[in-house]
Amino acid sequence: MASLTVTKMKQMKKQGQPISFITAYDYPSARLAEQAGIDAILVGDSLGNVVLGYHTTVPVTIDDMVYHTRAVARGATSTFILADMPFMSYHTGMETTLRNAARLMQEGLAHAVKLEGGEEIAEEVRGCVRGGIPVVGHLGLTPQSVHQLGGYRVQGKQEQDAKRLLADAIALEQAGASAIVLEMVVSSVAEEITSAVSIPTIGIGAGKGCDGQVLVYHDILQYDADYKKKKFVQTYADIGTTIREAIGRYASDVKSGSFPTEEHSFAGDSPAPAAVYGSGKEQDKG
Ligand code: KIV
Repeated sequence: MASLTVTKMKQMKKQGQPISFITAYDYPSARLAEQAGIDAILVGDSLGNVVLGYHTTVPVTIDDMVYHTRAVARGATSTFILADMPFMSYHTGMETTLRNAARLMQEGLAHAVKLEGGEEIAEEVRGCVRGGIPVVGHLGLTPQSVHQLGGYRVQGKQEQDAKRLLADAIALEQAGASAIVLEMVVSSVAEEITSAVSIPTIGIGAGKGCDGQVLVYHDILQYDADYKKKKFVQTYADIGTTIREAIGRYASDVKSGSFPTEEHSFAGDSPAPAAVYGSGKEQDKG
């Protein structure tokens, strides 16, 4: 059982306790996030950008999401897991929405699903909630609509856009959403939304007035070959450089013959190694 639940998240908002989310997409990243004590993991469709090498989240499929969510669930066995419903896995009718949301929970073992959009998806949110599927909304910059938005822009700059965002947040709350992600929203607007709704807001590039924060794993760790600095991200490590340098040293050791040594080689009487790959777990679960 995850230590966080949607009910507990609401209590945390009431008590003014900030909620920490990070994205993760596979077993080791989820395991490390859980060991680090994160409150919740989002298996985001940012998977497309940071793991699968696409330029947007649009090509990510429900099968991709199920596969990666399941891997995250194997790594983080006691952390709340939220999984993204990818592009066009909803919007095409309630039955498809429910079927895809159910796959993320039954096959992926997610605890909740996230959908992008406001009032226009309220019916789908209601349907999921009626079916026992906790839903998190996502407003502001909604990357699945990047081609319609004409790029990744800060949202809520104009008064009418700010009003629309507020109305959408209220519509999501009324439809039964458990929380709302606010992405790249002007901070004063995010703050207004946060005080207008009783469900937690989780910000990314939406300022400190939100009830929680989420950042992309690969961004806080600079885990990318060509990491680009982003205004709304604080980086905490430069894993990209560490990995590149380590692989470079390994490759040159192989070329120079300095790896492997006797220490890394088996003799006829050597005992079996404690692990073959990674943590060496021998039994598959889930
Ligand atoms: O896909 C994702 O990782 C997200 C976050 C950026 C909020 O939706």
